[in-house]
Amino acid sequence: MMSLRVLTGITTTGTPHLGNYVGAIRPAIVASQQPNSDCFFFMADYHALIKCDDPSRIERSRLEIAATWLAAGLDPERVTFYRQSDVPEVTELNWLLTCVTAKGQMNRAHAYKGSTDANEAAGEDPDAGITMGLFCYPILMAADILLFNPHKVPVGRDQIQHIEMTRDVAARFNHLFGQGKDFFVLPEAHIEEQVATLPGLDGRKMSKSYDNTIPLFEGGAKALKDAVAKIVTNSLLPGEPKDPECHLVTIYEAFATPEQAAKFRADLVAGLGWGDAKKQLVELIDAHVGPMREKYQELMAHPEQIEELLQIGAAKARAIAAPLLKTVRESVGLRRMNALPAVKEKAIKIALPSFKQFRLEDGQFYFNFSDAAGRLLLTSSGFASGKDAGQWVGKLKKEGVAALTGDTPVALAEGVSSDDVAAALVALTVE
Ligand code: TRP
Repeated sequence: MMSLRVLTGITTTGTPHLGNYVGAIRPAIVASQQPNSDCFFFMADYHALIKCDDPSRIERSRLEIAATWLAAGLDPERVTFYRQSDVPEVTELNWLLTCVTAKGQMNRAHAYKGSTDANEAAGEDPDAGITMGLFCYPILMAADILLFNPHKVPVGRDQIQHIEMTRDVAARFNHLFGQGKDFFVLPEAHIEEQVATLPGLDGRKMSKSYDNTIPLFEGGAKALKDAVAKIVTNSLLPGEPKDPECHLVTIYEAFATPEQAAKFRADLVAGLGWGDAKKQLVELIDAHVGPMREKYQELMAHPEQIEELLQIGAAKARAIAAPLLKTVRESVGLRRMNALPAVKEKAIKIALPSFKQFRLEDGQFYFNFSDAAGRLLLTSSGFASGKDAGQWVGKLKKEGVAALTGDTPVALAEGVSSDDVAAALVALTVE
């Protein structure tokens, strides 16, 4: 059976909560246990630097996330589990991809656009507080992905645009440098449709930004119990029938067997009190996460064990990344010094007349206009700024020879007639 390569990254900011476990960690681990899967899970700690400049938070989050995934059952023998920052090939590929990525496309990235829109709404400079890290975020993500050529990239909906951008960059790179061969597989985003997002204490999606989370391991059984106590219910008393369509039940169902879920619902309808319902919820979650929590605490007490596993993971990842990067570097012309191959006849391109802008030692800005064969037709006088020179080029392209009536800052080159210029300008506007 052909194996299916799956890759995903986890940004290392924050401490995983119950919602992350149900929505991302658990389904990823289940998927990694399928017989034909070849999974790459990594900690996106370079991405974390974009959002966080507190070194101790970065350090703590990396450790907690690694311990969480391992405690939750990730098998590092089956899965290639590593840190992004341990694979230098990622940053090398990042640069090669940066050089073929259109800036205009990055301008349209949701995360960046969201920030500039917010700045504008606040009456600030659109780029206020925005780093190049944020602007280039999608390229780093493309490097993470393309270095391993996965078929499937499980992500949240907010990341779909990034996968589309990755596909574009990959296609462009293949086209420019592949010489008929594809370096990069075009990856597919994979959205888990069956996994419902877990509601938080107040019924909205469980998220750190809403401050409505239930901790997964941190704080032990007590923190779990305290959080469940805060789940918002209504004021119906024990003995009064309750509507089982509520977020407490949704949370219960994320851990229950169908039989347990049916009984819990029936008990609520029959009048189970909210206090007892919460007690049952704590017991159910704890039966599930209690044993993992012990493993988590053991790992947190022995970071050197995690470090060792991650080093092994990085070595496995690099064994795949390095050969690919070598071919890719060579394809763009970064190779050992050798006798140059004979220069291939360039495909005959239909040449067009062209403008060239330049700056001379006098500090002024100039442009030239030449015909398709390279014969110089026009030279400009000096402009104070590149923008002024550019405006004249624009005017000539738009208006053609009509722009040359009256006082103009251009002169015909030796032996050139204004008809020659007119013809060349027409050739430029007729595509
Ligand atoms: N940007 C992703 C997120 O915030 C994390 C990430 C980084 C990622 N690199 C990736 C996900 C590569 C998938 C593949 O969720």
